[in-house]
Amino acid sequence: MSTATAVNGPVKQVISCSSRLAEGRALVQDVWSIFNAANLPPDCLNLGQGYMNFGPPTWIIDAAEKALRGVVENHYSHPRGRIRLREAIKNFYSPRFGRELDVNTEILVTSGANEGQYSVFTAFLEQGDEVIMFEPFFDQYLPSVTFNGGKPVYVPLHPPPATIAKPTSNDWTMDVNELRQAITPRTKMIIINTPHNPIGKVFTRQELEQIAAVAEEFNLLVMLDEVYDLLVYKGKEHIRFATLPGMWDRTVTVYSVGKAFAATGWRIGFLIAPASIIQPTLAATTRIVFCSNSPLQEAAACGYEQAEKYQFFETQLSEYTERRAILIGAFDKLGLKYSLPEGTYFVLLDISRVKFPEDYPFPESIIGRCRDFKAAWFIAIEVGVSTIPVSEFYCEEHADIGAAYTRFSFAKDVETLKRAAERLEKLKQYIE
Ligand SMILES: Cc1ncc(COP(=O)(O)O)c(C=O)c1O
Repeated sequence: MSTATAVNGPVKQVISCSSRLAEGRALVQDVWSIFNAANLPPDCLNLGQGYMNFGPPTWIIDAAEKALRGVVENHYSHPRGRIRLREAIKNFYSPRFGRELDVNTEILVTSGANEGQYSVFTAFLEQGDEVIMFEPFFDQYLPSVTFNGGKPVYVPLHPPPATIAKPTSNDWTMDVNELRQAITPRTKMIIINTPHNPIGKVFTRQELEQIAAVAEEFNLLVMLDEVYDLLVYKGKEHIRFATLPGMWDRTVTVYSVGKAFAATGWRIGFLIAPASIIQPTLAATTRIVFCSNSPLQEAAACGYEQAEKYQFFETQLSEYTERRAILIGAFDKLGLKYSLPEGTYFVLLDISRVKFPEDYPFPESIIGRCRDFKAAWFIAIEVGVSTIPVSEFYCEEHADIGAAYTRFSFAKDVETLKRAAERLEKLKQYIE
């Protein structure tokens, strides 16, 4: 019998489990289960996990209800996705991609962005193929790559230099030479996440062009994770990598209905790519989930069809702009540095000046972890606001870079954010 440290603590294995779980960091207690409501005081405000404390708009919920009352909508859909949703995606995204998307060959509905990404890895990776990802990275990439035989290779995004008094997410920079140095004969893919979780960075045209040149030179597949594409704040432009010259043929772009319509539990996402990428990915996804949740695909279709009529995305963006202002207002009052996000609903707070007693009664799960785990725990207990330590978004070797930050999510209603801002005033006494 072997012992695996599962998400809920050590479990004796009667049958040994696959080593791929350990390799994909899937057995260590992850940050989400440590900073989970169950482990924190009941009145702690959760600004850690990136889901909303509000639901989708009622006109979309009505569409979901209607679909549930139908017959065909309660059964299997075509593995490519329901035609109504693919049509709606085509109409919404064709102008944004500057090309007429083909509903039969260039759009694939998936069970959330996660499953879409997983299916691309299944479809394209050979054992030992290397996949470049920028750090910090969305934590799901790592197991999704390694479960499919791939090897993650990390290229850091460099934090803003200390000399910048008021950094923005744009001050997190990539070095194209480091990207080039990371390429080997086994490199197959690059993942780019823009707007970026957890930094909030929106990659500039120049940065994307630099990556495009590398992708072309080394014949790489490029995965664009654009799940926050509709959350880009005033003053910044979201560039779709697939629209850069020559990039369409090698790019798969990933979207999430959950992020778009505040419906993260619906598990619907989709991919936009040329037929040469969609076709093998369809073969993989058909054997993984067969098809995605049917009734909620109908509701998602209604969302894209009617978004313009309701000015939904414009309103949502202005609501997030207000939420962002409340949270950063609290940081400004404390005089703490943060990276003003240009996109997403995340903000990184620099916690290097937050002091806590070394002998604070930290739980087992925190002891031995980077400083940001301790600071985030301390803030959650003493201030009553929970956040996510950023070292979790780095490989072990580079975890120290992330240890200076904790991630706040402002995907919460204004009331909650105002309460969080009031509570954060308490942090003042712990700032050096
Ligand atoms: C960058 C990024 N990509 C993908 C996802 C997953 O999206 P979905 O919930 O649609 O699977 C998330 C969710 O947090 C994310 O932040």
